[in-house]
Amino acid sequence: MKITVMLGGASAERDVSLASGARVVAALRANGHAVTPLDPAMGVLSETAFTDLVHDAMKREPPTLAELRRFEKSPLSPILTTLPAVREADVVFLALHGGQGEDGTLQAMLDAAQVRYTGSGHLASALAMDKDLSKTLFRSAGVTTADWLMAPATAEQVSDALSWPVIVKPSKQGSTVGLHKVNGPEELTAAVADAFLYDDEVMIERFIPGRELTVGILGDDALPVGEIIPQHELYDYECKYTAGMAREEFPAKLTSSQRSMVQAQARRAFRALKLAGYARIDFRMMDDGTFYCLEANTLPGMTELSLIPQAAAASGISFPALCERIVQLALQTKGGKS
Ligand SMILES: Nc1ncnc2c1ncn2[C@@H]1O[C@H](COP(=O)(O)OP(=O)(O)O)[C@@H](O)[C@H]1O
Ligand SMILES: [Mg+2]
Repeated sequence: MKITVMLGGASAERDVSLASGARVVAALRANGHAVTPLDPAMGVLSETAFTDLVHDAMKREPPTLAELRRFEKSPLSPILTTLPAVREADVVFLALHGGQGEDGTLQAMLDAAQVRYTGSGHLASALAMDKDLSKTLFRSAGVTTADWLMAPATAEQVSDALSWPVIVKPSKQGSTVGLHKVNGPEELTAAVADAFLYDDEVMIERFIPGRELTVGILGDDALPVGEIIPQHELYDYECKYTAGMAREEFPAKLTSSQRSMVQAQARRAFRALKLAGYARIDFRMMDDGTFYCLEANTLPGMTELSLIPQAAAASGISFPALCERIVQLALQTKGGKS
């Protein structure tokens, strides 16, 4: 098959995407496909450009806002779907994370151009990217999620509705960028101001102490539940992308009823947002065994340290087989996706 892998882009998760994309390109080539790597910020990549770009892509910190602004200015975005590498592909594999590659914008462009692509459609992608709307839909579908308010909110409103500590985060970001644990009213203003640097909507959420769990959904299957044990209190950027900064356990040590409960919640969250193909749903579990759904990730990481590849491996699915299955799921979609 002719497969174009999109990687890079102009979001804060650009480097993560380069690392994901590098592996996806290699896996699909090993599966025998004719693969073209394409960075929406730079265009089709020659083999040398691709190798240079993905070499040592992951840094300890995300790219600076100034660096990202440069990529955002790419004149390519409006004409992306007119490129032969996109129009003539049997399927476009989206190895992008965050920004317009994950929030439904690119998905809508590909739909308009009648190009098949992996993962969720434009509406589902947009819903999952927006944590405020996701949580509203989770609640109405019976998926438990922590109480929250949208900024601006006074310290008094936060005390009344949520109590301290709280988590302040951009509503439409990923990779724990711009996210803060706020222990008391005096820290609120600075945390909200920082989160607003990354998004025009900021959420203030009840802090859920406890364990960090994640469930991958692949087609109709819930993959083995994973537990993440980060070195820091929160699963932050450094813990997510630096080897040795977090330990992952697949399968997580849970009772069988806890396991089926969290997998059922993950499936329900997947349906609530009308997701397609594959996704990863994140949870916190309190000591009393209650689960709180944090969010759904429609284009979850595919790096060496990423969770979906580890979850797949725990159920005997190799990385190339995982990529192949994601492609097959994209080809099976009939009549468009949400
Ligand atoms: N309400 C919360 N209570 C406790 N920890 C949280 C909460 N919200 C986020 N976190 C921590 O921050 C991490 C990232 O938050 P998440 O909502 O998943 O956003 P992102 O899209 O950045 O991954 C989580 O994995 C968790 O460690
Ligand atoms: Mg998350």
